[in-house]
Amino acid sequence: MTNNTAVPLFNLQKQHDSLKEEINKAALEALNSMKWLLGPKTQQFEADFAKALNAEYCVTCSSGASAIQIALMAAGIGKGDEVITTPFTFVATTTSISLTGADFVFADIDPLTYNLDPKDVERKITPKTKAIVPVHLYGYPANMPELMAIAKKHNLKVIEDCAQSHLALCAGKYTGTWGDAGAFSFYPSKNLGACGDAGAVVTNNKEIADACSSIRHSGRSLGKAYEYDREGSTLRMDEIQAAILGVKLKHLAKWTENRAKAAELYRKHLAGIKQVVLPPAAPEGWSQSYYVFTIRVKDRDGLSAFLKENNIGNAVYYPVPLYKQPCYAHLNCKAEDYPNTEAAAQEVLSIPMFPEITEEQIKIVCNKIKEFYNK
Ligand SMILES: Cc1ncc(COP(=O)(O)O)c(C=O)c1O
Repeated sequence: MTNNTAVPLFNLQKQHDSLKEEINKAALEALNSMKWLLGPKTQQFEADFAKALNAEYCVTCSSGASAIQIALMAAGIGKGDEVITTPFTFVATTTSISLTGADFVFADIDPLTYNLDPKDVERKITPKTKAIVPVHLYGYPANMPELMAIAKKHNLKVIEDCAQSHLALCAGKYTGTWGDAGAFSFYPSKNLGACGDAGAVVTNNKEIADACSSIRHSGRSLGKAYEYDREGSTLRMDEIQAAILGVKLKHLAKWTENRAKAAELYRKHLAGIKQVVLPPAAPEGWSQSYYVFTIRVKDRDGLSAFLKENNIGNAVYYPVPLYKQPCYAHLNCKAEDYPNTEAAAQEVLSIPMFPEITEEQIKIVCNKIKEFYNK
């Protein structure tokens, strides 16, 4: 085992090094502008990110978690409401629902895409249900056409969790532009990552955009200094992050293309290994952002340990479904109600994926996976 065979799960250093001068210059401009919050770079980034997604409005905020929270609040979701979501996601999806005062209710996932199963969503609707929060897990779009049809039929709001799905296309439209709003994370490792915490809500609804602008800014009535329409909080993104994200956004389309090319190479080099199930191929008009490349395998924990011994980064997103987390023990959810989530949590494994990954690195990963199953 030598260090030159190491393939990390992510490689933020390479990307940062390639843009360092531009990032430093933009960040210094923001720093010296003395407009450290909601300044011109924030406004520019909001216009550019909305444009990149063919959306009308973008309202930046402090994180992906706060984006989900303020989008739900802006859509009128709060105490006494139920919100249906997936248990196979990062915990911020549910904590953000809880912070609005609403209760979340889990529906099971589709076994192939790992995203919300629309049929189970419909089964979970009660008179209290007011919204659905689909997550586009790993960057594969949730079944928005079916989820939107259910939402329309039952008069529900839809807030998409797009933390992992920047520029993923769902039936010809970007994720985040199907529902009432899309919530994005710019956490450093995300496809578009800040140098710190940051997020954004994207919407085509002016009322929701205005409400988000107010909620992130202490609930201020827009354009007023000390008048408040509603309660909000301090959930703004700072100007330095806007400057950095502005530099990186110009490269997002190319990075997304590179991820898709890397995914195709994985498909080629992993084809034929019977213990490995590849991620589903996206149908015509759909595309994946490949935040991570996630395979489904036999003896997942054995393979994970073997790859780690060989310096190949890998991780399980997510090993413990949310209904099994100690913080949700009081909900008394039954694992047998979520068979597809249970199975996925035992078998998924994410392997190295970043825009700069080379074919040689991909071959190293695939050869080690073959070696493990040939033992
Ligand atoms: C699916 C999902 N939802 C929400 C979030 C929350 O984003 P942030 O870490 O920016 O709050 C993340 C990011 O980790 C995520 O992966």
